Amino acid sequence: MMAEHDGYRWQNDIKVLFDTIVAMFSKFSNGDENAIAKSRKMKRDMRNAYGGDILYLSAKPDYSDQLRRWTYIYTYLPRHVHLVYAALCTADTPELKESLKKLKEQPIVCCVGGGPNCDALGLCIFLKKVGCKGTLTKEVCVLDEYDDWRHTWADMKQQSPEGDQSWMPETEWVKCNLVKPFTDDSAEKLKKADIITVVKSLSSVAASSEETVKEICDRIMKMMKSNALLLFIDNAKSNAGELLLEARRELNGSSHKLVLHEEVMTANLTSSRRDIYSDEAEALIEYMEDQPVLKAGDNEMILIHRFE
Ligand SMILES: C[S@@+](CC[C@H](N)C(=O)[O-])C[C@H]1O[C@@H](n2cnc3c(N)ncnc32)[C@H](O)[C@@H]1O
Repeated sequence: MMAEHDGYRWQNDIKVLFDTIVAMFSKFSNGDENAIAKSRKMKRDMRNAYGGDILYLSAKPDYSDQLRRWTYIYTYLPRHVHLVYAALCTADTPELKESLKKLKEQPIVCCVGGGPNCDALGLCIFLKKVGCKGTLTKEVCVLDEYDDWRHTWADMKQQSPEGDQSWMPETEWVKCNLVKPFTDDSAEKLKKADIITVVKSLSSVAASSEETVKEICDRIMKMMKSNALLLFIDNAKSNAGELLLEARRELNGSSHKLVLHEEVMTANLTSSRRDIYSDEAEALIEYMEDQPVLKAGDNEMILIHRFE
């Protein structure tokens, strides 16, 4: 492991992020009991949709709705940001030093199905931990079926304390439906990325068919430039990781992609609850009568490096 940047505590950054989510709440509720009840129902539906082995297309959340996007960040953002951070910390070993080198030198980032920016935020927090200054000042892009996520991130950033905005990425969103061939815009973003992240998004399209998921993995890997990394994280109980590895094996003859790291990880936030919730956050959680998700369950992490 790299030396930890002196005194750095990821809990503080996740607390800042969650406090911005709490501050955004008044925008939606405005004292309106209906909005709260609606959000509670959305949260239940989301947990049913994402909690099972398969996500059925009929249950797929529609993120063009502002309140549903807020409900998502309230429910999942702290945990997903931490999951990306924890995955990178796990992979940050002396053996992978050379492969992770570019990651620590202002990488260009492309987050496939990156939603509200969780993948890039986890990466920023990892970079802060290893002592990189001015994290993610180059291009950061999210490819997602719903590019409305950009409004959620703009609101979050606006609510963040000024002193923290400097470590938060200037992210751009490109509309992209993964089950269709990449548009020129999406392909361009993928081809220039030093790191492509695919976090909790493949299991969301897994409802389509195994063949489709494999095709998506194949198309993403073919876009990787020489020396690029691909970070995949998803529920271990979905078969998305298996399909990614299958697609990689089939590609291996023509290009040299190596799995650097493969591991099932359980990174819970439960024991850090007191560190990441302010008094305001605790009050909102009580009001919502439902906790954000802090338990990670088993997640599969795969890191792939394209050598040539
Ligand atoms: C569970 S969220 C994960 C978001 C983010 N990576 C995170 O970890 O919080 C799944 C994301 O995949 C996106 N998504 C689902 N199906 C998609 C598709 N066919 N094409 C592109 N994005 C899709 C959703 O809009 C959503 O942002």
